[in-house]
Amino acid sequence: MKLNIDPVRCVRCGLCQSVCIFNNISLDPEVHETETECFECGHCVSICPTGAINLKIYEDLNYDTRNKYKTDKLDVTYDEYIDVLNRHRSIRYFTKEDVTPQTYEKLFKCLDNTPTASNMQDLDIVVIKSDLYEFTKHIYDIIKTKSSDFLTIRNLAKYIENPDENQNTLLYTGRDIILLFSKNPQDTTIACGRIEITAQLMGLGGFYNGFIVMADEIDHEKLMEYFPEIDPSKHLSCAYIIGHPKIKFKRPLPPRKVNITYK
Ligand SMILES: Cc1cc2nc3c(=O)[nH]c(=O)nc-3n(C[C@H](O)[C@H](O)[C@H](O)COP(=O)(O)O)c2cc1C
Ligand code: SF4
Ligand code: SF4
Repeated sequence: MKLNIDPVRCVRCGLCQSVCIFNNISLDPEVHETETECFECGHCVSICPTGAINLKIYEDLNYDTRNKYKTDKLDVTYDEYIDVLNRHRSIRYFTKEDVTPQTYEKLFKCLDNTPTASNMQDLDIVVIKSDLYEFTKHIYDIIKTKSSDFLTIRNLAKYIENPDENQNTLLYTGRDIILLFSKNPQDTTIACGRIEITAQLMGLGGFYNGFIVMADEIDHEKLMEYFPEIDPSKHLSCAYIIGHPKIKFKRPLPPRKVNITYK
């Protein structure tokens, strides 16, 4: 049994029952769990008008199930949101300002409600703030097999031989690296998109890094030697370099063509 249900608060509206895809809730003779299956999606908690349902996993969180969204309607309009999205540009020039723990705490609020496959919340995040040379070398040692294909990797070889932080083509002058691990790469991609947009709204910036992710594809085992704390069955499937932008873009490019087919 996954739920705590307060029959006193229940007004028998049936909304919890109607929203449960596993038919885990019955109103007969009074609201109760049917022991079919529950993947703790929390939709019954979210929809109940009186806060009569809570998930047992939230018991210790002191979470008031009567809390509602701040407003019925979103504060952000469609036009404002599209404007935010169109302001995306990869940032590769950064100031030396540190990204503080307080800033990260605020940034990672964007993951409080990030969707994950089967609601497993099977997501591990590592922020690399120190030993950037060591980490870069670890990645380089794995991806150097692809040197002939990529100028970025060939240029990285020069940095490895002669470390000058302005010449690190893995980070450019990014302060930190945010790495996302999961068994399901979609989970990390979605979370990373949230991080990027939230970072932008907070005045931070950065860029997604495909070369770091390439290391996982080339030699997952060797990559994971750097992360003994992470379950090795998880894969690194998103990397985001972050910092305080040194530059400010003024305009978007014309809309890029995306092939959309309706069949
Ligand atoms: C990568 C991924 C795959 C998912 N696949 C399915 C799916 O096949 N069927 C489904 O009903 N929901 C699917 N979901 C939705 C999740 O079950 C849902 O996001 C999670 O239960 C959290 O609920 P919420 O999205 O309402 O916050 C998927 C979500 C993600 C991120
Ligand atoms: S948490 Fe989701 S699956 Fe479980 S009873 Fe509620 S709606 Fe159904
Ligand atoms: S949604 Fe809440 S009030 Fe409505 S039937 Fe379910 S428990 Fe009762």
